[in-house]
Amino acid sequence: MGTVETAQKLLGAAQRVVCLTGAGVSAESGVPTFRDAQTGLWARYNPERLASPQGFAEDPGLVWRWYMQRLAKVEAAQPNPGHLTLAKMERGWPGFRLITQNVDDLHERAGSQAVIHLHGRIAHFHCQRCKRAYGLQPEDPSAPQPPGCGHCRGLVRPSVVWFGEMLPAEELHRAMEAISTCDLLLVVGTSGLVYPAAQLPHLAKRAGARLIEINPQPGPLSDLADVCLRGNSGELLPALLPIA
Ligand code: APR
Repeated sequence: MGTVETAQKLLGAAQRVVCLTGAGVSAESGVPTFRDAQTGLWARYNPERLASPQGFAEDPGLVWRWYMQRLAKVEAAQPNPGHLTLAKMERGWPGFRLITQNVDDLHERAGSQAVIHLHGRIAHFHCQRCKRAYGLQPEDPSAPQPPGCGHCRGLVRPSVVWFGEMLPAEELHRAMEAISTCDLLLVVGTSGLVYPAAQLPHLAKRAGARLIEINPQPGPLSDLADVCLRGNSGELLPALLPIA
């Protein structure tokens, strides 16, 4: 455990701060975490069926409808004070880097400029066959099946990383670079269960960085942390940053 004051001291002494965020940072904006999204209508499907190449091949309509419902939730959401604080850190601290596992764009809408998206973006689409980018059409969100690509008629899919897929190489490279040179890592709102993203805090620690975890629940990364702040990121992140 730890206190906000201890965390502030670590931040004050750091030169290069990196933050890794997960679904928890958007929870207070009303975007359900992946595991929370497995409720109600979708509880009977396992995650692999909704978020894997195999699941998409078996039932593209089911996967499409699930992503369209999630996209609608993201579009209706607003950044919360946690997102806003991270944007402020980027503006104020040279060398600050933000790495997210989230596919929403709430960090960007809060003002963050250079977000490293390890798991892609839910509002971007491409053809699974020819890989060309696809611009969502007004009729697509309510369609029962994914649209066809205008070039090759392949199926269009969200540009997110599914189970069993590789992380985008360029983003992973930028993340590794930031992690290996930081002296302080904030780990915010992630369960630390999904690899390789969950490996990043281990790498930072091995490279000598201090680690602050912000999460209402302990998890597998808690033992690595120098300071664990138990609570919501929408409250704790603003508390860390002294009012300018
Ligand atoms: N503030 C901070 N953390 C929170 C909050 C909050 N208000 N609410 C929940 N959390 C924490 C939970 O305790 C949990 O540890 O956020 C975490 C959410 O965990 P996951 O749903 O597993 O999200 P994440 O770690 O981002 O998942 C990683 O797995 O589902 C795939 O590709 C998807 O990017 C996702 C990846």
